[in-house]
Amino acid sequence: MNHSTPPLLELGHLRPIAAGSYRDIYQHPHDENLLVKVLTEKARSRREAWYKAWRSSGPYKTLSREVAEYKSLRRKNLHELSFIQKFYGKAETDLGMGIVVEKLCDRAGGLAPTVKQIVQKNGLNDELRRMLHELRDGVIENNIVFTDIKGSNIVLAHDRHGGRLVVIDGLGDRLWLPVNTMSAKVNQFNRWRHFERAMAALEELNRDRVSSAAD
Ligand SMILES: Nc1ncnc2c1ncn2[C@@H]1O[C@H](COP(=O)(O)OP(=O)(O)OP(=O)(O)O)[C@@H](O)[C@H]1O
Ligand SMILES: [Mg+2]
Repeated sequence: MNHSTPPLLELGHLRPIAAGSYRDIYQHPHDENLLVKVLTEKARSRREAWYKAWRSSGPYKTLSREVAEYKSLRRKNLHELSFIQKFYGKAETDLGMGIVVEKLCDRAGGLAPTVKQIVQKNGLNDELRRMLHELRDGVIENNIVFTDIKGSNIVLAHDRHGGRLVVIDGLGDRLWLPVNTMSAKVNQFNRWRHFERAMAALEELNRDRVSSAAD
């Protein structure tokens, strides 16, 4: 028996509990407190063509970039920050390579809602604005390379300590020349700008919601 190959995590028979534009999110089959994120079938099949065309490209590259950012946070001892989703490593699954992360929950123990979902459902209030500004300040102070800042990449999690915003996706430098990773000043400038842009998008979503309710 070959002990060097760890067993595959079997996910194929399960239904994802959430989905993004390029990843499906599964409950970890062996631990209630964890999730496994794998590429969607569409993203996996696209990968084949891209992989041949340009080996450093494709959706798996995005996963590796994210993993690299988690490793870098660990090296800087910043991986315990309460506003960053905890990362437990890569996993080989029957649906391809995946990453294992902590499952963030709402008050009732269900999956934590994203900021975008909250604004769509309940609107944007001053408390949520304050929490988003606090998150922005935390990201900038700690020089986190959070490049894909948007409401669907931030969740409102609840635990026995109360509610907090957590970044669940979008870490790592997307640029061919990783200037955000190379320069703290550049990253901090860009994080400010991108937070402003994300806040403006949420304010617009909020306005659309109010005006469609008035129709
Ligand atoms: N750690 C987590 N805890 C709770 N819910 C999560 C967690 N990670 C992801 N989710 C849920 O799954 C959805 C998709 O996850 P994620 O953003 O990682 O996928 P993606 O495909 O990379 O997204 P994008 O569309 O931004 O590319 C999130 O919007 C959120 O609703
Ligand atoms: Mg996302």
